[in-house]
Amino acid sequence: MTTPFTIAIDGPAAAGKGTLSRRIADQYGFHHLDTGLIYRATAKALLDAGLPLDDEAMAETMARKVDLAGLDRAVLSKHEIGEAASKVAVMPAVRRTLVEMQRTFSRKEPGTVLDGRDIGTVICPDAPVKIYVSASAEVRAKRRYDEITDAGGSADYQAIFEDVKRRDARDMGRTDSPLRPAEDAHLLDTSEMSIEAAFQAAKSIIDAVLSRNA
Ligand code: C5P
Repeated sequence: MTTPFTIAIDGPAAAGKGTLSRRIADQYGFHHLDTGLIYRATAKALLDAGLPLDDEAMAETMARKVDLAGLDRAVLSKHEIGEAASKVAVMPAVRRTLVEMQRTFSRKEPGTVLDGRDIGTVICPDAPVKIYVSASAEVRAKRRYDEITDAGGSADYQAIFEDVKRRDARDMGRTDSPLRPAEDAHLLDTSEMSIEAAFQAAKSIIDAVLSRNA
């Protein structure tokens, strides 16, 4: 295998990219970066400082301070932070600032898995494996609903469904690096699949490329 070997996983919110990417990284002994966390960290820095989410210059300053080693998933995974992240993620200055950090990470040996919205299209356009993970908005909302209620929380399915659709519209409709599958991405619709089935499907795609590159 030619190293470093990069696997790009993209897809909309709550499609299961995170869980899938972590399993893939474990399977192959690769480093994993959930790139949503860096947009979330930028948004959180603005929120903590009491700054508006539409100030591009301040958002760029906060993006420059993001430290990959200090990303705390437990803190950053809050719903309001995800919503705020999708607002700062439309800003070209923020995206530009975060590109190099992601590309540097993608070159770690022996390989990496990056998941996000623009990995296959913008950040790692030469990645030998690109997978676009999707599921219907209804299924994604239901998974998020189950996640919250299974953990003992209370949730409103309709509100979650509206959130999912709003986030899709923002991520797919922005001008800079909109969410879309790369032309050479493998499409993986997980609407009717368990996590295990999605993992096995992804593994067959990756193994086929690895055996060609061996
Ligand atoms: O994946 P996650 O929900 O953590 O991402 C939060 C937001 O960050 C997304 O809705 C999207 O707007 C933005 N994002 C992005 N590009 C990435 C990863 C995330 O624009 N590569």
